Amino acid sequence: MPEHVAIIMDGNGRWAQRHGKSRLEGHRQGVENVRRIVKASRNLGIQHITLYAFSVENWKRPKSEVSALMSLLNIYLKKELEELLQNGVRLNVIGRIEDLPKNVQKTLLDTIEKTKENSQQILTLALNYGARTEILDAVAKYTSLVAAGKEDSAELDWETFSSCLYTHNLPDPDLIIRTSGEHRLSNFLLLQAAYAEIYFTQLCWPEFLPEHLLEAIEDYNSRERRYGQTGEQIKEVKKSISPA
Ligand code: IPE
Ligand code: IPE
Ligand code: MG
Repeated sequence: MPEHVAIIMDGNGRWAQRHGKSRLEGHRQGVENVRRIVKASRNLGIQHITLYAFSVENWKRPKSEVSALMSLLNIYLKKELEELLQNGVRLNVIGRIEDLPKNVQKTLLDTIEKTKENSQQILTLALNYGARTEILDAVAKYTSLVAAGKEDSAELDWETFSSCLYTHNLPDPDLIIRTSGEHRLSNFLLLQAAYAEIYFTQLCWPEFLPEHLLEAIEDYNSRERRYGQTGEQIKEVKKSISPA
């Protein structure tokens, strides 16, 4: 099992259009699917699941759609709290949370606080998230540490810099799934995706079922992750750790 699966949940609008429904109905079905997939990922024993729910660029959408998305998010979090608590799921958030509507921030902080002791699974929502914004925020954080004398820029390494990212408490994603047939990352986890396996499917998010998650994981398991080494080197390592 991949330890960390991250999903770009795309295609709610197109799914709705194909079914003669409003975009809002597409987003409602999208939220239903969040429930289904988070549950399935938990049953599969995936330790970390990260969902791209709202990007910094999504503010450019019509006001009515943005506010509908915010309100769906608020309702989802409130409804889901019991389920998270019962199943030992801790909620984590990445993104500029301070720019979300006040009521959403309050629900988020409340849910994070109530689930903070849980460790069965970490559910991370990327909200008002953008990788470039994250990098700027990390640089600002790092330079303030240098100014305070807590870091020495001559010793900057990846470990230090990545501890300034929103994802400082998460492992890098092993598998990134994008639904809806688009072949792009849309400003999602650009640095953390350095060695992620990426899986694209034509299915829109509301129709991406647990069986499709399983297909994505099977595909992931058929790949060889070489991290710059040769295939032969990887086979040697595998041989040395697997019982004869
Ligand atoms: C994903 O579905 C949901 C969000 C980005 C919030 P879209 O709303 O982007 O659906 P399409 O891409 O228009 O079909
Ligand atoms: C990516 O989807 C963002 C989320 C899934 C939240 P978009 O629909 O915003 O991406 P683009 O605009 O097609 O690249
Ligand atoms: Mg889209």
